[in-house]
Amino acid sequence: MSLLKLLIFHPIFMLSAFIGTADGYYEYMTSECVYSTSDYSDMVYLNSFSFNKVVDVQFNSTVGKYVGYTEEGVKHAENFNKDPAILQQQKAAVDTFCRHNAQIWDSSVRDKTEKPEVTLSSVKQAEGRHPAVLMCSAYDFYPKKIKVYWLRDGKLMTSEVTSTMELADGDWYYQIHSELEYTPKSGEKISCVVEHASSTQPIVKDWNPSMPEVNRNKIAIGSSGLVLGIIIAAAGLIYYKKKSSGRILVPN
Ligand SMILES: *[C@@H]1O[C@H](CO)[C@@H](O)[C@H](O)[C@H]1NC(C)=O
Repeated sequence: MSLLKLLIFHPIFMLSAFIGTADGYYEYMTSECVYSTSDYSDMVYLNSFSFNKVVDVQFNSTVGKYVGYTEEGVKHAENFNKDPAILQQQKAAVDTFCRHNAQIWDSSVRDKTEKPEVTLSSVKQAEGRHPAVLMCSAYDFYPKKIKVYWLRDGKLMTSEVTSTMELADGDWYYQIHSELEYTPKSGEKISCVVEHASSTQPIVKDWNPSMPEVNRNKIAIGSSGLVLGIIIAAAGLIYYKKKSSGRILVPN
């Protein structure tokens, strides 16, 4: 069994041989499934052998045989195409490997959605033309595709909006941030709207210009602490006064 023939039966195989200390060779085989339809009608299976990043020989299921792209590759393609067992296996792979795995993959990962956690907050601005800056953030959503926009009394706001790209968290989830600079008017309603595959209804966060709950809580905790501190200090002082007044000082 030749080395390349052996590789065919191992879906993922990497071989690197090193000569000396700096230079090396890198030979690898990849099996790819390329598709963009949900019924897999356009599924293409590719089996490529590469040496130092150059594809030598490749099986493409649309073509139905191996094609060599280098002098070496042409020879390998010839050998592979002569072997009915290899060809039969490769031709079947678009179903047995690609469509089979795509189904499992899509239902367990690609078709899953995770609803974003949307927060709306006021942020300090550097030197904008408008006095107020709001930040709308959506966290931990999947898939990547998302729409974030601003409404003022139900009307779309387009100017003075700056958004980041969808940022990959590195754990399959994404986050995105949108900033709105504006001049507040009394009685108006500013909302951040998020549209995502995880929710049939848009997620709407209305801006409440009064103090956010987090700040209210911080102030409540802070003042409770202050009151408690004063009480303890007063009690300590009273105790000290009582003790010192009750003591008879005896000179040594
Ligand atoms: C596979 O082969 C078909 C037909 O030659 C070609 O149109 C297609 O681009 C190839 N696919 C890839 C990913 O190389």
